Amino acid sequence: MDKITRGKTRAGRLDALDRVVLRWLDEGAFFEEPGGKYVDLGFGASAVTALAMFERIRQMDAQANCTGMDVDAMRVEEAWRECEALKVSEYSWLQGGFAEVGDDDVRLCRAMNVLRQYGVEEAVRAHAQMVRGLCEGGVLIEGSCDRKGERLGAHVIERRGGEGFRRGVFLMCRQGLDGGFAPRMMRDWLPQDLRRGAGRGHQVFVEFLDVWMASFLECGGVRDRDERFARSVELLAERCEGVEYCEWMVQEGVVWWSPEGGVSGVM
Ligand SMILES: C[S@@+](CC[C@H](N)C(=O)[O-])C[C@H]1O[C@@H](n2cnc3c(N)ncnc32)[C@H](O)[C@@H]1O
Repeated sequence: MDKITRGKTRAGRLDALDRVVLRWLDEGAFFEEPGGKYVDLGFGASAVTALAMFERIRQMDAQANCTGMDVDAMRVEEAWRECEALKVSEYSWLQGGFAEVGDDDVRLCRAMNVLRQYGVEEAVRAHAQMVRGLCEGGVLIEGSCDRKGERLGAHVIERRGGEGFRRGVFLMCRQGLDGGFAPRMMRDWLPQDLRRGAGRGHQVFVEFLDVWMASFLECGGVRDRDERFARSVELLAERCEGVEYCEWMVQEGVVWWSPEGGVSGVM
């Protein structure tokens, strides 16, 4: 199923995501003990975003074992060269696909913008394969974002009892904080298996975004954009079971939803 897809990435694209994930890690949201393996799967034509993630993880957890993996052998060679030029030798770069993520031993696997060129069914199968490489309690963060990483949607899937269990989906809308934002536009930045063509999976998210959109419109009188965003999230959480947020998440433009809770009044 693995295929070499476009490799575009860009320095800083996943910085905001890293900040959010690192904060969750730091707060023990996923697991408490430091140490273990971290994988960035599908790091792309340059190692730049993987390196940024690994450096941050190492600052938090000096024992972390970090590996960048890509299905394209040329990109893997290029990553080794980039690191040699930067005199960075702590990280490994391997050729591999979804089934090679790990050996029941990976704590966290990030796979951003990897499944964009895969079908819905393939994306679901890819999740299952990647989860098999995780240790029990390990997490997969898989999703899509725009060029600058300002609009992003990702799953957080945990390995529990050997199986993948979706803890939630989070949406990050950083450009909501400086204008031109409306919740409905996030339908274009849902993870691949939830986008158009994903049947009920997509529809559930359309309904969720409709509720958020209505909440956002109701806050139209609030002039400050950050404040409007924050109020719309508060309203959304009142109307929709499974929405979680806190002050720092809202400041980062992040909304978490566990859809298994359903959208009250809609579903
Ligand atoms: C668009 S780049 C993403 C780069 C970076 N993660 C980002 O978000 O900016 C997608 C990368 O995923 C890789 N890829 C696609 N399918 C893969 C698979 N099954 N296993 C590993 N890597 C894969 C491609 O070779 C490509 O380098």
